[in-house]
Amino acid sequence: PDSTSPPIDSASSIDIDQVLEASLAEAISRRRNFAIISHPDAGKTTLTEKLLLYGGAIQQAGAVKARGEQRKVTSDWMELEKQRGISITSTVLQFDYADNTINLLDTPGHQDFSEDTYRTLAAADNAVMLEDAAKGLEPQTRKLFEVCRMRNIPIFTFINKMDRAGRDPLLLLDEIEAELELIPWAVNWPIGSGELFRGVIDRRTRNVVLFTRAERGRQASERHLHLDDPELPSLVEQELLDQALEELELLEAAGAELDLELVHAGELTPVFFGSAMTNFGVRPFLDAFLEMAQRPVARSTSEGPVDPLRPSFSGFVFKLQANMDPRHRDRVAFVRVCSGRFEKDMTVRLARTGKSIRLSRPQKLFGQERSVVDDAYPGDVIGLNNPGMFAIGDTLYTGSRVEYEGIPCFSPEIFSWLRNPNPSAFKNFRKGVNELREEGAVQILYDTDQSKRDPILAAVGQLQLDVVQHRLENEYGVQTRLEPMGFQVARWVSDGWPALDEMGRIFNCKTVQDAWQRPVLLFKNEWNLNQLLDDHPALELSAVAPVV
Ligand code: G4P
Repeated sequence: PDSTSPPIDSASSIDIDQVLEASLAEAISRRRNFAIISHPDAGKTTLTEKLLLYGGAIQQAGAVKARGEQRKVTSDWMELEKQRGISITSTVLQFDYADNTINLLDTPGHQDFSEDTYRTLAAADNAVMLEDAAKGLEPQTRKLFEVCRMRNIPIFTFINKMDRAGRDPLLLLDEIEAELELIPWAVNWPIGSGELFRGVIDRRTRNVVLFTRAERGRQASERHLHLDDPELPSLVEQELLDQALEELELLEAAGAELDLELVHAGELTPVFFGSAMTNFGVRPFLDAFLEMAQRPVARSTSEGPVDPLRPSFSGFVFKLQANMDPRHRDRVAFVRVCSGRFEKDMTVRLARTGKSIRLSRPQKLFGQERSVVDDAYPGDVIGLNNPGMFAIGDTLYTGSRVEYEGIPCFSPEIFSWLRNPNPSAFKNFRKGVNELREEGAVQILYDTDQSKRDPILAAVGQLQLDVVQHRLENEYGVQTRLEPMGFQVARWVSDGWPALDEMGRIFNCKTVQDAWQRPVLLFKNEWNLNQLLDDHPALELSAVAPVV
């Protein structure tokens, strides 16, 4: 040390550490992060818009809606990409509300459904399960729920469209309990429904929020009063009130308690009734959600659980996005910050390769907009330019080495031969297919017959196949042809080839192999799969590829 410098005062250096720790702890305690899981049309765009309005992140109703509508009219992904020069897969919306910083991870639905949708849930601390009151649980919601279940993500249920005729609320709760094995706990309870929807009773406070349908426009007005308020009977039909109270008694008799520990373990879901379109019940939902939601918590790594309060930065890549800006042909790696404070220009280490990387232009993403971010905290998501350096599941860290648990593969449901009609382009074709597989754009399978060299693309959504074709043409200069195969179900054989050899000839399924020469069985439907399992009870199959 320079002899002219003042002696190091160890007391003050401890103070600095304490200050840093306190500011990290403060940032973490304010952070909430969630994804919405729903089926198309349940009202995700509408609810997102209302939440962003409360957060002041958008100035007017319609800002998000416009995006939703644009998607609907331009159903073709490539068209949209061409027109707007961007791709439309999921991004992150960050907004502040009531002293909290909220990260809403967008999980696209409709034709944009892909493995990225699932991967986004790997970065989420909470999920909001949005149901249409008239439809209850729908297929896409169930699939996304299964992914949440794998990590025991806390689920908050919002039952939407209460202003319209819907199913019996008790039956909606029963369905959640019976089919998802998730205990529902209604935080509020509807008085009437459809045309006769009069509002909700808050079960914890016994306050009533009355719903008044607006004559014109769609915004409902809310009026708050207590259940014992003498004015109430003149405002709501006694019959409807009696019925709601009777149902509430049934719920109380059922005995479950709103136990936050169970919520955080993903075993109990607080349920809210409302109407996103008329903005009824959205603010109470947001307030209750912020109160009950899980803050960023410790995550599993190779070195045991890592607490978000660990002073050194760490995070993992949960999604790679190509061509967000076609002028630069760039890729963006989305990183979920898990511990410490992330700072611009930080030099981090990549756990997989051990390489050091300086992150000079980290980005904050808001929908399609990007701006350079100076710092980020656990629960946040940052975007890094990725010149082929990162892979899905990669851990970035400073300080001592940590490596987060990988992101699982998801069971593909769409299978298609990928044909390369031009033999002279074979090298590029193979290179492109391998690189896109490594990037996680799609899963690749091969026929067991070596003479059939063409790869089989396996995906969870059609969009993935379209993207692969589009990118092979634009980035590798190869035109390809897709030839759909009539399969819908894939299963990895847990005990490998010997298990298959023992079984002899099997029917109604096709045996293929993955990129690691492991056997995979393809079935036309679940029925054929179950038939095989009935015939061979000892056979162990897995819906997802074992981690390599
Ligand atoms: P999504 O993103 O989940 O696909 O759903 P989105 O928000 O686009 O909503 C789907 C449709 O449901 C929209 O109607 C929307 O207005 C309507 N909706 C959403 N929330 C409610 C609600 O609380 N009550 C009622 N009655 N309807 C609701 P649309 O006809 O497709 O569009 P628009 O003409 O209303 O814009």
